[in-house]
Amino acid sequence: MRIPMIAGNWKMNTTVSEAIELVKAMQDELDKIANVDKVICPPFVSLAAVRELIKGSSIKLGAQNLFFAEKGAYTGEISPLMVSDLCEFVIIGHSERRQYFNETGEIVNKKIVAALKVGLKPILCVGERLEENEAGKTEEVVTEQLGSSLAGIGYINGLIIAYEPVWAIGTGRAATGEQANETISLIRRNIAKLYSDGIAQNMRILYGGSVTAANATEFMKQPEIDGALVGGASLKATEFLSIVTQTSAIK
Ligand code: PGA
Repeated sequence: MRIPMIAGNWKMNTTVSEAIELVKAMQDELDKIANVDKVICPPFVSLAAVRELIKGSSIKLGAQNLFFAEKGAYTGEISPLMVSDLCEFVIIGHSERRQYFNETGEIVNKKIVAALKVGLKPILCVGERLEENEAGKTEEVVTEQLGSSLAGIGYINGLIIAYEPVWAIGTGRAATGEQANETISLIRRNIAKLYSDGIAQNMRILYGGSVTAANATEFMKQPEIDGALVGGASLKATEFLSIVTQTSAIK
């Protein structure tokens, strides 16, 4: 049985006080929902304050990135240990990082290794760009991303994958439930090939890209989809809560 998961990727939004307000606005209601893992990923600067606030709550915390080196002279970077001190999860390889910060498959791979080493649960993001989708290359791109991100990694306990077609992120143009289900099923087959059937069957694979309260049910009804990585809609307490509530009712 895979426990469904809804993760909110707040991206570069909210000051510390705004982050606290947002958590306060949904914490009590989220705590009433037991059968879904509820994860929020605020910016680094708010992690410590949010962690204090959610002590004793069922809400879990994630970071949006980390650097792969253990420590040292890397001005401005955040180490795996710093993240694992505060969080259970970390988003790795988000398409915005690949696009704006030149994160390659090799870098993503190093980050996954570093995260697993300190016991973090990485949420590895993969997904094709619009032109790749239109050229019918989704399978090829996603397979390549999985292969390079996980190259040489034998132990992936706790790893979560988020299938996020780049053309659906922040565009209001979500994939259909069926499209997402199909690619997620392909990802699961790939994991089975790279690891084992058992690992693939137990792995949680999320869909991300313009998930809202209005379309959440369409995705959660799909058998291969274990939850969602939510960007824009996770910044509104009522939207996020509605997505979690719908997931809880279906899964
Ligand atoms: P979105 O972002 O929900 O705003 O499309 C999803 C993501 O980037 O994780």
